[in-house]
Amino acid sequence: MNKASMEKIVSLCRRRGFIFPSSEIYGGLSSCWDYGPLGVELKNNVKKAWWQAVVQQRDDIVGLDTSIFMHPRIWEASGHLKGFSDPMVDCMKCKMRWRTDDLDGDVCPSCDGELTEPRQFNLMFKTFMGPVEDEASVVYLRPETAQGIFVNFQNVVTTTRKKLPFGIAQIGKSFRNEITTGNFIFRSREFEQMEIEYFVKPGTDKEWFDYWLKERMNWYIGLGIKEENLKLRPHGDAELAHYARCCSDINYNFPMGLAELEGIANRGDFDLVQHAKFSGKSLTYLDEDSKEHIVPYIIEPSAGVDRSVLAFLCDAYDEEPDKDEIRVVLHLHPALAPYKATVLPLSRKEHLAKVAKEIYAEVRQCWMTGYDDTQSIGGRYRRQDEIGTPYCITVDFQSLDDKQVTIRERDSMKQIRIPISELNSTLAAKLGGESFEVLPPGGSHQMGF
Ligand code: GAP
Repeated sequence: MNKASMEKIVSLCRRRGFIFPSSEIYGGLSSCWDYGPLGVELKNNVKKAWWQAVVQQRDDIVGLDTSIFMHPRIWEASGHLKGFSDPMVDCMKCKMRWRTDDLDGDVCPSCDGELTEPRQFNLMFKTFMGPVEDEASVVYLRPETAQGIFVNFQNVVTTTRKKLPFGIAQIGKSFRNEITTGNFIFRSREFEQMEIEYFVKPGTDKEWFDYWLKERMNWYIGLGIKEENLKLRPHGDAELAHYARCCSDINYNFPMGLAELEGIANRGDFDLVQHAKFSGKSLTYLDEDSKEHIVPYIIEPSAGVDRSVLAFLCDAYDEEPDKDEIRVVLHLHPALAPYKATVLPLSRKEHLAKVAKEIYAEVRQCWMTGYDDTQSIGGRYRRQDEIGTPYCITVDFQSLDDKQVTIRERDSMKQIRIPISELNSTLAAKLGGESFEVLPPGGSHQMGF
């Protein structure tokens, strides 16, 4: 039974070193978060699983890592300078700023003060590049990684000779001066995105849009998210972004309710046409079949790293009755678990610790491994359950004689005894090998048309 509430997830993350409030010793900084030793492992594993599925295991997508600062004209061309804004009102008394769509009445929800008329508030962070702070040196922190991909379209086509349909994938930080943040790492001002821009021949875009909806749903399911917690939500015409012909959100059933985990949009030719117009450079593709220069359409599956981390945590969280107690356990997919195994010596006695440390030194060459020699063995198992470690390796006094250790499985709590010499191969078999098979059930990588 899953009993994840946001309070429990936040508390577990804080207590066990997944996620801390940023600048905590200075009182924190609103909506900014730091990933701790376990959090950075989980987050890296999410990114690695995504990269494996969309770049490494496919032959039609290549990666990219573009800079956060870009030429300011890019944001004119993309429509962000004009269109990337929310209507806002300010309270004249307490100076709080509110999104108009968050308000029920026409007085400030915080102090009942009078509100200003709505104004458009641009969500891009602005700063200056170089020593002079004037209009000519204004640059923006990118609000999406996508634009770095569009403006490199021609570079990638020329250097990789990719043929349509093909995609470009990127993971990176994005920044938005969101007015309302909250729900832990769900909405913050600095966050990471995993975006694919998939270029297709016009006319095939609808099929590819449907393909990517399925493919992306299956990615989450393949990594352990329960299917019943995912829901597709097609956008109505009125809420479509300025660039989108159609869009569907993959919503996840977070503790605060269904909310967007990933957006999949059919951007048509909007971006390449705009950048060609503003840059004066040709951004077309020579179609080998028709011998014509065409502007590809773009299907964009755009996921949030932090929201994925939150969804994986919430979905994995469980409280299970165990004898007279409740055990808290994160049933994380092994590919995502921060530690794949943890070595637990039954006692700190020197001759036992020596063997345990030798085992630890060997296992961690292959897997991210923990070591814990504090508290009772039961307490240590509980701690590893709570951080989602799939396997505990217990070294006891008998190990000194029979050269065997006990492996305890997180989910079933079953224990087996195996020779120390077979540890790495046993773990490899149990964990599914270094690359972890996370292909979606029945998921194929190519469309049949
Ligand atoms: N390039 C398209 C694009 O950026 P988006 O729907 O604005 O589309 C895509 O963002 C994903 O990025 C969202 O589904 C979400 O997972 C993540 N995201 C957007 N804003 C965020 C924020 N303020 N905090 C955390 N994640 C955010």
